[in-house]
Amino acid sequence: MCGIVGYIGKKQAAPILLDGLSKLEYRGYDSAGMAIFDGKKINMAKATGRLKVLSELTHEGATLPGTVGIGHTRWATHGAPSDINAHPHFNEAGTIAVVHNGIIENYMKLKKKLLEKGYKFQSDTDTEVVAQLLDYYYTGNPLETITKVMHRVEGSYALGIIFAENPDVIYAVRKDSPLIVGRGEGENLIASDVPAILKYTRDVYFIENEEIARLSEEKIEFFNVDGESIEKECKHIEWDIHAAEKGGYEHFMLKEMNEQPKTIRDTISPRIKDGRIVIDELGMSDEEIRNINRIHIVACGSAYHTGFTSKYIFEGMARIPVEVDVASEFRYRNPILEDGALVIIISQSGETADSLAALRMAKERGVKTLGIVNVVGSSIAREADKVMYTWAGPEIAVATTKAYSAQLVAQYLLAIKFAQVRGKVTEAEVGEMLRDLKKLPDQVEMLLSHKEKIQKFANRFIAAKDIFFIGRGIDYAISMEGSLKLKEISYIHSEAYAAGELKHGTISLIEDGTPVVAVATQDALLKKTISNIVEVKTRGAFVMAVTNEGNTEIEKTADYVIYIPQTNAYFANSLAIIPLQLFSYYVAVGKGCDVDKPRNLAKSVTVE
Ligand code: F6R
Repeated sequence: MCGIVGYIGKKQAAPILLDGLSKLEYRGYDSAGMAIFDGKKINMAKATGRLKVLSELTHEGATLPGTVGIGHTRWATHGAPSDINAHPHFNEAGTIAVVHNGIIENYMKLKKKLLEKGYKFQSDTDTEVVAQLLDYYYTGNPLETITKVMHRVEGSYALGIIFAENPDVIYAVRKDSPLIVGRGEGENLIASDVPAILKYTRDVYFIENEEIARLSEEKIEFFNVDGESIEKECKHIEWDIHAAEKGGYEHFMLKEMNEQPKTIRDTISPRIKDGRIVIDELGMSDEEIRNINRIHIVACGSAYHTGFTSKYIFEGMARIPVEVDVASEFRYRNPILEDGALVIIISQSGETADSLAALRMAKERGVKTLGIVNVVGSSIAREADKVMYTWAGPEIAVATTKAYSAQLVAQYLLAIKFAQVRGKVTEAEVGEMLRDLKKLPDQVEMLLSHKEKIQKFANRFIAAKDIFFIGRGIDYAISMEGSLKLKEISYIHSEAYAAGELKHGTISLIEDGTPVVAVATQDALLKKTISNIVEVKTRGAFVMAVTNEGNTEIEKTADYVIYIPQTNAYFANSLAIIPLQLFSYYVAVGKGCDVDKPRNLAKSVTVE
């Protein structure tokens, strides 16, 4: 996820681009840049770091005069965050400038071809290939050139392009990445999202897949991928700026919960090719995978809960012993790390101090390390021997939702891959699991669509003092995350217990009306969990159960039941967590809490 903007009009472009980019920083913030046409040539400035670095570098845009320009705020995918990899990217002559949001999937192939033709590349990005390809096909007719390039590139893109030879126009192109055009008075704009342009206009065209927009000061024209002219309808935006920043949602957390189908899809799809799991970035031969004799999963908070879930999967399916530790314990407990061990560090930010320290310790002990990380180029991503990225995009709400979901599915893929290489699952079983994995995004979407029902239910718990979560096996892991989500954003005291442990002490806490959330997705353990529900019900608990479709017998004991669709038992966390996220969210909203920024918490814990 990156943010792009463009301006053409009578005013100085750079300050407008900086302002627009500031509204898109939620889309990425590891580097930023601008290219402005000054009447003779295209000048450029770019810088690693947040937008304010670029703003200071250009004296709030004053060092880049001109009334036509494009800008970018980056969330690295291909190529670590650096000045060189920051956008805009150019052809060698510096006459074509490009900003890009998306991923050019066939860039390696195209780059190879261009290198053979004598093109030289500056950066490690996929985007530079677009700039060079535009140069390669340039005929003096930008529209024709762009359509040729669109026929060659595969993947997703929202592009802003300026040509020094045609300085009175900006081109905008889209496929599978958002892009809008804003229609102003004597000025026009492009952007990845509405908030970037709201200050200048509320009249917007939404560019659809494989469409091209050509903007001049006075005119906006649209074309299809064959360069034929098309008509588009202009929409008037009524949202205020704050709502627009959150895509119309009340909170980033709600927006990010709703992005989970996409996040899961983006993390899974590139790693399933022709019915097989391909995790190139693992860089491990089958022999090396077979030789792993123990996995240590190390993480903090919710990331730890995903590791706690995948312990059941790695052990159950791949038959590899797994230890899961919270990083702050692992780093000080002098763990036994022997030859053949693999240490997996899971982190959204890639900067969590304890997780980073645990990684460094594992490396010092000479064991192999793998990071499962969301932020490209972050410390853990750089320092781990290998890194598997979760493609969740920037997460703004402090309480993680979409990065959590991405971490889970990344680990499912890894576990299936390991199980397959070690001969613990048949081809048919793998095929069935992949089919179930591919269904997850739609199933999550369906669960999200029932939010009103959960909101109504959640409103009854606003005054609760304590809420307990219980479950067995993977359901215990789900309970831990459900409980953390609830307490961190609603400030209601909550604990998660292994359901079988209740009678060893905890059950004394249950009194008349105590809310208990019972997670029961593991059919093999269903009867046992139902017994535990009966135990708490007998002591007066009010029970909400989360279980699989078809397990209707639970209605005899639980007071309220939420059903999740059928999936492989190993993947149940991905579905059961959705109603629990919604429940926490609506309880917190009902209590008037600051959902996106809960008290005492930071998004990235970079201190011990
Ligand atoms: C809870 C939450 C935290 C993080 C934890 C690790 O909603 O977000 O528990 O999961 O602080 O952070 P990362 O994944 O950045 O290492």
